Amino acid sequence: EQSLRSRILELNKMAAKYFYYQLRQEGGAHAMRYLKDRQLSDETIHHFGLGYANKYSDDLYRYLKGKNIPDELLAQSGLMQVDEKRGMYDKFWNRVIFPIMDVNGRVIGFGGRVMGDGKPKYLNSPETVVFDKSRNLYGLNFARTARKKQLLVCEGYMDVISLHQAGFINSVASLGTALTSQHASLIRRYTDEVILTYDSDEAGVRAALRAIPLLAEAGVTARVLNMRPYKDPDEFIKALGAEEFQKRIDDAQNSFLFETDILQQSYDMSDPSGKTAFYEAVAKKLVGFEQELERENYLEAVARRYGVSADSLRKMVNSIALKGMNFSR
Ligand code: GTP
Ligand code: MN
Ligand code: MN
Ligand code: MN
Ligand code: MN
Repeated sequence: EQSLRSRILELNKMAAKYFYYQLRQEGGAHAMRYLKDRQLSDETIHHFGLGYANKYSDDLYRYLKGKNIPDELLAQSGLMQVDEKRGMYDKFWNRVIFPIMDVNGRVIGFGGRVMGDGKPKYLNSPETVVFDKSRNLYGLNFARTARKKQLLVCEGYMDVISLHQAGFINSVASLGTALTSQHASLIRRYTDEVILTYDSDEAGVRAALRAIPLLAEAGVTARVLNMRPYKDPDEFIKALGAEEFQKRIDDAQNSFLFETDILQQSYDMSDPSGKTAFYEAVAKKLVGFEQELERENYLEAVARRYGVSADSLRKMVNSIALKGMNFSR
C-alpha cells in the first residue's frame, strides 16, 4: 500500500494542476491580470506553477471526489477545511495560488494571496505529514542549481519570484514564518554565506537580528542588504532594476556591524555616559570573538565607525575578558 506521504504528495500535484488550469480559464482572467499587473511574465508564472483558486469554495472538493479521493485523505492533505456544520470545503478560494515545493520540486503545500486588500493577505496550507514549514524554503528547488556563492534569503513568495525573474535565481524565502535553526542547517548544505534581504521595516530588521545568530550557529555567515528607500526586493527591483540590486548585494553590510548599528540606536550618543555605555556594550560583543585576529579586525572596524580610539576600546575589551575569567580559587 502507498504511504500517506506519497498519497498526499500525489494529491497536492493534482491540486496544483487544477489551480494552474483555473488560472487559464475565463474565470481566472482577473487573477491572470493581477499577476501581470505585478509584472510577472508568462514564463515566470509557468516556472513557478502559479495558479488560481476560483470563487467557488467547493469545486476542488468536488473535483477530487470525482477522482474517488476519500474524505479522510482530503482532510489530512490540508487542502480542505473541516467544519462541523458545513462539512468539508476548499481551504483556498478566490486567491492567486503559489505552490510550495520541496528541494526536489515536489508540491508540499500552497500559499494563496488575495487579489487586492482583503484579509488575511496570505493564507498558507497548515502543516501536514509532508509540509514542515521549519524545514523547507520557498525557491530552494531552483536556487540549489544556481552557481552562486551565496543564497539570498528574503521574506515573501513575491520577493523570490521577482528576484528569480530578474536573474537572482539564488533567492529563497521562509514560508511566512521566522527562520529556524533547521532552515539554517538546510542552508548550510548549499552555502556558507547568505545575504539577508528582508523587508526594510521594523519587522524585517527584527527578523534579521534573530536570523544572524541562528545562521552563525550553523556555520553560515550573513550580510545584510540595504533596501532603502524601498520596502522589499520586489518593490526595489521594480523601481531600480537588477543592476542596482546587484550593487546593493555587493555593498551588503557585515552582520556584526549591522547589529552594532542597531545597538547604537538605543543609546544617547550626545551624552558622554550614554556614549561610554554604548562602547561598553560593543566591547562586550567583541569579547565574543575567540580568535584574536578576528576580534582585532572587528575592533578596528568598530573604532573607526563610531569614532572611538582603538586603544581605549581594546582596554575595555581586555578588562571585560579578564573579569569573565574566574580567578577566585
Ligand atoms: P505582497 O504584498 O504580495 O508583495 O507580499 P509580501 O511578501 O511583500 O508580504 P509581507 O512582506 O507582508 O509578508 C511576507 C510573507 O509573510 C508573505 O510572503 C507570506 O508568506 C507571509 N504573510 C504575509 N501576510 C500574511 C498573512 O496575512 N497571513 C499569513 N499566514 N502569512 C502572511
Ligand atoms: Mn474553488
Ligand atoms: Mn514584511
Ligand atoms: Mn514584503
Ligand atoms: Mn511585497
